[in-house]
Amino acid sequence: MDIKTLLSQLTLEEKASLCSGIDSWRTEPIPRLSIPSAVLSDGPHGLRKEISDENGQKTGTVESVCFPTGGAVACSFDRSLIRRMGEALGEECQAENVHVILGPAVNIKRSPLCGRNFEYLSEDPYLAGEMAASYIQGVESQGVGTSLKHFAANNQENRRMTVSAEIDERTLREIYLAGFETAVKKGKPTTVMCSYNKINGVYSSENKRLLTDILRKEWGFDGLVMSDWGAVNRRPDGVLAGLDLEMPSSHGENDAEIVKAVKEGRIREEDVDIVAGRVLKLVYDSLAKEKKNVSYSKEEHHTLARKIASESMVLLKNENEILPLDASKKIAFIGKFAEVPRYQGGGSSHINSYKLTGALEAVKEICSVSYAQGYILEEDRTEETLLKEAVEAAKAADVAVIFAGLPDAFESEGYDRPHMKMPECQNRLIEAVCEVQKHVVVVLHNGAPVEIPWAGKVDGILESYLGGQAVGGAQVDVLFGNVNPSGKLAETIPLKLSDNPSYLNFPGEKDRVEYREGIFVGYRYYDKKEMGVLYPFGYGLSYTTFSYSGLKADKTEINDTDTLQVSVTVKNTGDRAGKEVIQLYVGSLPGPEKAAIRPVRELKGFEKVELQPGESKEVSFTLDKRSFAFYNSEIPGWYVEDGEYEISIGKSSRELAGSLTVTVHPASPIRPHYTMESTVGDLLKNEKAKARFKAYMAKMFPGQDTDEELLMMEAVMDQVPVHSICSFHPNVTLRELQEIVDEANR
Ligand code: GLC
Repeated sequence: MDIKTLLSQLTLEEKASLCSGIDSWRTEPIPRLSIPSAVLSDGPHGLRKEISDENGQKTGTVESVCFPTGGAVACSFDRSLIRRMGEALGEECQAENVHVILGPAVNIKRSPLCGRNFEYLSEDPYLAGEMAASYIQGVESQGVGTSLKHFAANNQENRRMTVSAEIDERTLREIYLAGFETAVKKGKPTTVMCSYNKINGVYSSENKRLLTDILRKEWGFDGLVMSDWGAVNRRPDGVLAGLDLEMPSSHGENDAEIVKAVKEGRIREEDVDIVAGRVLKLVYDSLAKEKKNVSYSKEEHHTLARKIASESMVLLKNENEILPLDASKKIAFIGKFAEVPRYQGGGSSHINSYKLTGALEAVKEICSVSYAQGYILEEDRTEETLLKEAVEAAKAADVAVIFAGLPDAFESEGYDRPHMKMPECQNRLIEAVCEVQKHVVVVLHNGAPVEIPWAGKVDGILESYLGGQAVGGAQVDVLFGNVNPSGKLAETIPLKLSDNPSYLNFPGEKDRVEYREGIFVGYRYYDKKEMGVLYPFGYGLSYTTFSYSGLKADKTEINDTDTLQVSVTVKNTGDRAGKEVIQLYVGSLPGPEKAAIRPVRELKGFEKVELQPGESKEVSFTLDKRSFAFYNSEIPGWYVEDGEYEISIGKSSRELAGSLTVTVHPASPIRPHYTMESTVGDLLKNEKAKARFKAYMAKMFPGQDTDEELLMMEAVMDQVPVHSICSFHPNVTLRELQEIVDEANR
């Protein structure tokens, strides 16, 4: 379809109407020219297509498969697995005639309290970007569009539609945009969804720098930008900023604002053509990618959801070899979540799962277990009878497995948590069980970290996050060893909430939240501050063991325009097959040319490998400029300071299995610009200035011109600004000093 021709046939009013949806889920059709609608639906971890009755009344959403949420699947550290999940979601969208699924959601987990962290991927932008890119590739491979969201800095639910995230440029680039950048460049999503909030006082929905200068001009995004639902503020400003599609419909109100703005000359009709043109492109591209008569097997997707969940959950503790469980033992399953697991979050991502498998049902395939409900979910109150039954069941068993975690009400889209605690009634239950049974495993269901006061009292802890509709089967697979756990934490679990770097500034004051921790988010903060944590970023146990050897790089010195190949050999030193996530971290080492404040180390590579007992594999990584660079807002741009960098291979951010050092030179070093306010020390780094300065030193300090004395003088003058030398040495003129500065700049 020739968009230009189509645009020429449309009136201004019709073009304006294209810039918003016709309802909550469809773009505006134009019957006069047989222009159809494109259909959008939530995501991100399941298809939530609303259905209505013949009167247009919403009656619910289609039955579909609820996969593990973003927070869970990110822990798989497995690009191919999340890509497969994307493919499955794409199949479901094709079968239900949905053209764009509204996901992935990649906002950084700045605070564990954010109510939507279950949907988001990580505290680390590299992991978030890589996993998001693979999800996008999977969905888009099926001819279905994605909507990378929420662009950008939507890191809390509190006042999300009015709050301004106050972020310095370097932090914005390195932490809050970097994941989106990777997802755009590597994933190539059909659409991006702008966030509700403001960034430094400007709504994302009318933020030209964000939606056009950065997203389109710098990153090369050539798709459509839609608003989050109800995120549009001043629609004409949004047109100028690059916001193409307002969702949902504002029933013509904002369309009229566009027409009015054109008539009053505040925006040009050409501006409307650009935006309406991108909506038309989305519609016709979507139609061209439609597949007819697509059906999919819900059972197959359920099985896939079970596989994804079992490879995402994180084994946090396994002492006295309590896991994997021995089916011949007497086992008690305790906790309502064993019967009816919490497997997804509240809000726009809530799926009408066609099936839900709890561990209690799944375990029947293996052995019989006793069961006690243990607690209620409706409110945080101990039901003594339930508690007593649970304690009895635990006492009578060889092993007690407690299925615990956060009830729906504790975390959801729309609000943030006030604390990181689990329900007190559940903590009490766990403590009571530990009184009578020393072999206890706790299986957690939570979208974001919880404080674990009983961590030292139990032998096993399995974090299943919100693991989707098949989570119970996945838990049984891991608990009984049919699957060897291989998940790694995509976020740090702090010892207590107040340790978190955003603690003093979350959720901010009314409509202003200052990201004062800067780039020191998550492990970047805890590592720099050398703080203890409960479980570190990248951590996760296995039923087997792995060793690393032969870490090497193909060069020891490179320019930042080169790439560096790093490889390491991993061996399965245990007696059962397993998967290992090899993590590669880069840290800038101190040096004379280093001035930037940097995290100790940052994740810049990860690979997941499966190894049979005794098997070894060499894993390699390719590093490039962005593996070493920080964002220098003075340039502005990404810059690699000259000097040494440490490359570490880790089983987690805190468990490093080897490191090496490489020297990196910036291919185009920043030429310092000297002034009379430069320090003598800085100026003397310039050879020409140094030579001329030496001549003056003899004049300034007659009779003290031995090398040693000159060195002493340099040390004394090192932090003295050039202009103040005259105050210390009357026989030097300002003009002479200015000459030295000018010479250095030539
Ligand atoms: C919601 C969410 C967004 C979702 C959209 C449509 O408010 O912020 O993630 O896709 O509206 O439901």
